[in-house]
Amino acid sequence: MCGIVGYVGEREVVDVLFDGMRRMEYRGYDSAGMALWMEDKLEVIREVGRVAELEKAAHERGLTGHLGIGHTRWATHGGVTVENAHPHSDETGRFVLVHNGIVENYLDLREELEHLGDRFVSETDTEVVVHYLARLYKGDMREALLELQKKLRGSYALVILLRDDPNGFFCVRRGSPLVLGLGDGENFCASDVPPLLPYTRSVVYLDEGDIASVTRQGASVWDETGSPKILDVHQVDWDVSMADKGGYPHFMLKEINEQGAVVRSTLKSRVTEGGVDLSDELLWTEEQVRSWRSLHIVACGTSYYASLVAERALSKWTDLDVRVDIASEYRYRTVRTDEKTLAVFVSQSGETADTIAAQRLARGLGAHCLAITNARGSTLDREVHDTLLLKAGPEIGVAATKTFMGQLTVLYLLALYLGRLRGGISAVEEVRLAEELNQLPYKVEATIAREESVQHLAERYAGCRDFLFLGRGYSFPIALEGALKLKEISYVHAEGYAAGEMKHGPIALLDDKVPVVTVIPRDSLYEKTLSNIQEAKARRSPIVAIGTDGDELLSTYADYVVTVPWTDEAFTPFLSVIPLQLFAYHVAKLRNCDIDKPRNLAKSVTVE
Ligand code: F6R
Repeated sequence: MCGIVGYVGEREVVDVLFDGMRRMEYRGYDSAGMALWMEDKLEVIREVGRVAELEKAAHERGLTGHLGIGHTRWATHGGVTVENAHPHSDETGRFVLVHNGIVENYLDLREELEHLGDRFVSETDTEVVVHYLARLYKGDMREALLELQKKLRGSYALVILLRDDPNGFFCVRRGSPLVLGLGDGENFCASDVPPLLPYTRSVVYLDEGDIASVTRQGASVWDETGSPKILDVHQVDWDVSMADKGGYPHFMLKEINEQGAVVRSTLKSRVTEGGVDLSDELLWTEEQVRSWRSLHIVACGTSYYASLVAERALSKWTDLDVRVDIASEYRYRTVRTDEKTLAVFVSQSGETADTIAAQRLARGLGAHCLAITNARGSTLDREVHDTLLLKAGPEIGVAATKTFMGQLTVLYLLALYLGRLRGGISAVEEVRLAEELNQLPYKVEATIAREESVQHLAERYAGCRDFLFLGRGYSFPIALEGALKLKEISYVHAEGYAAGEMKHGPIALLDDKVPVVTVIPRDSLYEKTLSNIQEAKARRSPIVAIGTDGDELLSTYADYVVTVPWTDEAFTPFLSVIPLQLFAYHVAKLRNCDIDKPRNLAKSVTVE
């Protein structure tokens, strides 16, 4: 969605804001703007397009200063125009603000203001907010923001400059993320941590309804009742190199290559040779764990596919009744959720609006809520009973790759841990699986090293318009994920299907122009999937198989085979997803697509 950054200090604000906006372009990028104090005036600049367009315009205007706010927009209300780009101002230009989120009741507020004589120049909810703020302000911004919050429905992170106050900026948030970064004689705010990393690792995650005043000297924060808060300062353990491309042409390729390290660091100190132990992080009592009857996993997109993989492992290793839901569905239908439910919410960003709403629903119904996220301090992390973090570092490419790997790792740790606590898994089996888990980082790295073969595969099929991805069992969600990766970054139509379902409809699509990519490890369903390959081959579809090392048979059926190292059936998704990520990457590259910033997509979907 939109990205916000604010700065006050000694540095050149234009440089800090552009650096931050570039690091946040993954959140949304159809237009951009900034406002800054230049000498004794507030200057505003906005452009349609990428941050680079704005940068050119800002240099031409000779903008310079030490206090300002910036915004990258992903349009929700109103088209992609300069008028709709942020920052927005009231009619007098006294208040200038940037916004991330959606104010749901903005039409009512706009009507109210129009009756009072206000005129609007944009179609946005944000312009309504700044007009309303101007009317509420009576000389004290904290008071005005407390009043404003009573009026607004929806989600917002707002950062505000006031013409009468050249000393700093103000913030308020509810439903959309905002982090303060604390430096020495300089301070920052941003929608996410990466823009802060070049300058500071001391951050304050603002809570729901918090208001902040930020100057060079420091930050003051008040809660939603207006009471002052003691700053809860966290030290982030990410460093700036993690948010750079590190010599790779794209973040996505860098992040695919980091996956061995992600599995390794996510396992670290959670798994030993004897098994999995999460008791340092999950302070669950035996009684509590035994009281759960069902386990709900709720997520969106790629996180949902990671959850579907884990559903199979959890059903195998625990006696819980496991179900997986898409968050936007879960929240609107009747779900039997109660105190006997462990509800797990999987979200790399921890800011996905539907996943957060689903969590609130489950929690309200009495479930014990656990987040699996990459974002410490995110809304999800702060609202659940417990969190298990992936140790993936910042993921900048819009298409999720290494966080998928991290999510799988954490979900498997959870499955093995619950299996142990509830007695669903024998000690011998646990040791065997833990050993295999510890081998995974090496096998992941060995799989990534086969990139060249996938690149040749991409060269052969990059011109095709439609693909079918098939898999069974653990490989079915991987087929879904492979298809999703291909469509989102290369804009090629791809369907993911359970291989056994092909006969029930999609087989009608097949001909010699529709390649069928089949995920077929040497597992218990191997022969069944092989039959599906034969069915597709009989319809003249080119067959691509993602198989296991040493499987000679596959090449007699498939036109192109990529193999991955052997692992236990339950762990095959960790490896078979990699050729599909690389395939999507290379097809997108051959088709000249904007790999890290695919059109219409944003990294975290903070609106419903
Ligand atoms: C796909 C992708 C999305 C996200 C989805 C959920 O590559 O990135 O499908 O997986 O938007 O995002 P999180 O995990 O942040 O809740």
